[in-house]
Amino acid sequence: MQTIKIKSLCRAATQRWRSEGEIIAFVPTMGNLHDGHLKLIDVARQHASKVIVSIFVNPTQFGIGEDIDSYPRTFDRDCNLLAECEVDLLFAPSTEEIYNNGEVLTRVEVPGLSNILCGEFRPTHFVGVTTIVAKLFNIVQPDIAVFGEKDFQQLFLIRKMVNDLDFPIKVLNVPTVRESDGLAMSSRNSYLDASQRQQAAYLHQCLVSVVDKIITGERDFKSLEENAVKMLENKGFLPDYVSIRRVSDLQPASQEDKELVVLSAVKLAGTRLIDNMTIELSGTIKTY
Ligand code: PAJ
Repeated sequence: MQTIKIKSLCRAATQRWRSEGEIIAFVPTMGNLHDGHLKLIDVARQHASKVIVSIFVNPTQFGIGEDIDSYPRTFDRDCNLLAECEVDLLFAPSTEEIYNNGEVLTRVEVPGLSNILCGEFRPTHFVGVTTIVAKLFNIVQPDIAVFGEKDFQQLFLIRKMVNDLDFPIKVLNVPTVRESDGLAMSSRNSYLDASQRQQAAYLHQCLVSVVDKIITGERDFKSLEENAVKMLENKGFLPDYVSIRRVSDLQPASQEDKELVVLSAVKLAGTRLIDNMTIELSGTIKTY
């Protein structure tokens, strides 16, 4: 596996591949790779002849007082994993390289979507995400980019950005990869001690119970959300929100909507965890 840290060299490598007729799939990450990331790489491999992964802990998507300094960095281990997965190229730039030594002023924003749900609690987060993903897309120029449904709002924003700004990139999404007790895999799970780790699985159980109630006909979404928040509080979580939205535009769901997503963000002993489940009101659960 080739590792490149310089933007111009990364672009040159992908341009050469493209001129040779290769199909390029790109998986952006912040490293500390787990099976969720590896599943994205699998899917990338199924759709392309060359797979590029980036590792960049992007400072602009962390708010003041958030965990940028403690965010787990396991670069050597990640490189070994990526080489085992036969990734063709790892792009691992420094912050100075990406942000031109602090000279970048331009931001990519999706107003109306970046300030709801997680954006209400992390007001600068999604502008940081869409800006870095737009930059990475311009550097790598992939045919395909792969994102996880675990970050449902992020995926939604990126699809909107790609569509609005006419990036010639096909976005693929991959269902959430979970631990055996249902906890969504996340780099931040490593902050949890053994008892918090056990407790964390309750977030998924809580979403399953909301989904079950919707499937069995409950339609008072507001009281479902309020009850779920109370259930989480009783189990020692500090919930930011539990929200039932429609999949098509991420706005609050109404009784008529058929495709719903239940999203939640909580803090557990200072660690922020997110999860979501989508439902089709024919009764089938699409994402587990
Ligand atoms: P990171 O948290 O490293 O996640 C990288 C990709 O892996 C994202 O598309 C995320 O949705 C996906 N992912 C994480 N956990 C997953 C799981 N349990 N199952 C399936 N997919 C999972 O998301 C980011 O980094 C950053 O915001 C980034 C897009 C790289 C921009 O900086």
